[in-house]
Amino acid sequence: MAAAAAVPLLLLLAAAAASPASAAAGGGKQTHIKLYWHDVLSGPNPTAVQVARAAVTNTSKTSFGLVMVIDDPLTEGFDLNSSTPLGRAQGTYVAAGRDEVALLVNMNFVFQGGRYNGSTVAIMGRNAVFDAVREMAVVGGTGVFRMARGYAQARTHTFDLKTGDAIVEYNLYIKH
Ligand SMILES: *[C@@H]1O[C@H](CO)[C@@H](O)[C@H](O)[C@H]1NC(C)=O
Ligand SMILES: *[C@@H]1O[C@H](CO)[C@@H](O)[C@H](O)[C@H]1NC(C)=O
Ligand SMILES: *[C@@H]1O[C@H](CO)[C@@H](O)[C@H](O)[C@H]1NC(C)=O
Repeated sequence: MAAAAAVPLLLLLAAAAASPASAAAGGGKQTHIKLYWHDVLSGPNPTAVQVARAAVTNTSKTSFGLVMVIDDPLTEGFDLNSSTPLGRAQGTYVAAGRDEVALLVNMNFVFQGGRYNGSTVAIMGRNAVFDAVREMAVVGGTGVFRMARGYAQARTHTFDLKTGDAIVEYNLYIKH
């Protein structure tokens, strides 16, 4: 009896795997993109600006309650001055950890050159900035990244504790 019942189940599973619904998550492409994200807080032209903070933010060890808006350059290499520009990271990050430094990041990678010019990737997730590798979700995209799903891994390249300026390596793994 058990063997007889197993056959229709297998057929159902095979049908589900082949159905168009499972392909609707994307066009079957997989793309890996490595780039550098520059969070510039210091100097005359900051690309990350504070828009709000809570009464407790100044005395919080984790800057809890801080809200930043970013329009950060994205480049192919880690040197902002000499690397090929790829686009911008536009969005917000919020210091959302009361007891540990952890950001809620919500941003679009807006590609403005190269083969992804005009396309965007939407990233949202938790970034515990002192961890070696932080993983965030790729939740969507536009242009060549329509229907995108995937993940982003962030690794700090340099971080200036005095100014808050940071260069972060991002690796995106996207199905679209
Ligand atoms: C927090 O610090 C900033 C900069 O030092 C200052 O301008 C602001 O008034 C402080 N806010 C509070 C609530 O103490
Ligand atoms: C990049 O340019 C800035 C401003 O001109 C300069 O202060 C900085 O030293 C340069 N960085 C490198 C790595 O050349
Ligand atoms: C990206 O696309 C825009 C709009 O089509 C175009 O004006 C611009 O020159 C392109 N940039 C590069 C670097 O190819």
